[in-house]
Amino acid sequence: MDSPFWDLVTIWLARASGVMVLTGAGISAESGVPTFRGKDGLWNRFRPEELATLEALQRDPERVWTWYRWRRKKVLQAQPNPAHRALVTLEQWKQPHFLLVTQNVDGLHQRAGSQAVVEFHGNLFEDVCLQCGFHRRIESVASEDSAVPYCPRCGHLLKPGVVMFGEPIPEQALHHVIEFIPRTDILLVIGTSAQVYPAAAIPRWVKDHGGKVVEVNPEQTPVTEMADAFLRGPAGKLVPKLVQDAMKKQQVPHERTFSG
Ligand code: OAD
Repeated sequence: MDSPFWDLVTIWLARASGVMVLTGAGISAESGVPTFRGKDGLWNRFRPEELATLEALQRDPERVWTWYRWRRKKVLQAQPNPAHRALVTLEQWKQPHFLLVTQNVDGLHQRAGSQAVVEFHGNLFEDVCLQCGFHRRIESVASEDSAVPYCPRCGHLLKPGVVMFGEPIPEQALHHVIEFIPRTDILLVIGTSAQVYPAAAIPRWVKDHGGKVVEVNPEQTPVTEMADAFLRGPAGKLVPKLVQDAMKKQQVPHERTFSG
């Protein structure tokens, strides 16, 4: 909150008709879901090429599936936090001119109540078959369950519904984002290290179309330099206050000029 631009950002947000939000693992950190990079990040403890590629899945499906089941369990134990919930309020205020683009695969935005969500990197709670297109939702993970899943339709090895390294972004997701860019007056970039493309290019696309970019993160990232404002701090504290203050700005009647 200690930003000289806090008030200005609340005015931008209040006046914006088109609002896009880009979130990353940092928004779920306060829910207890580990991030990828940084001190306690998953990619500090595990090698992505051994776990998050199609080659790894084919080479060692048991290891890869064990890791994704562990992540599913962690997410099922987690609850949405105040930042997730504040984005629901923001959506209700700005809809239908609102789009939430998340790189997260944890489904916490939807569990909080967000509706206009684009899952840029897929969803952890899906099993998909690359052979025949079969897919199913996963609601729970039994603790004794360790078998590698195969497609009930064609028998091919199943894959978790997340985008793995080297795989393309789901076409529909990319389409939604590109379509919304020209309508974006302000983009909030929350809790992403902005290192994975094409998601990391979204702030540049918005700027190139004349929209403002506001970043919320305890650390600087490659977005910080191009951002119109950088709000340093945890999402769970800053995002609810930002939405609340912006809504107050909208309620303030315009100053009247004295007319006698
Ligand atoms: P990262 O782990 O790379 O970055 C997390 C960001 O969150 C960092 O910039 C942190 O400073 C910030 N952060 C930490 N705690 C925070 C808090 N309480 N509030 C706000 N921000 C906080 O995660 P992503 O940028 O999401 O890809 O990573 C992008 C992609 O890389 C992921 O979607 C995943 C990974 O490989 C796939 O799974 C395809």
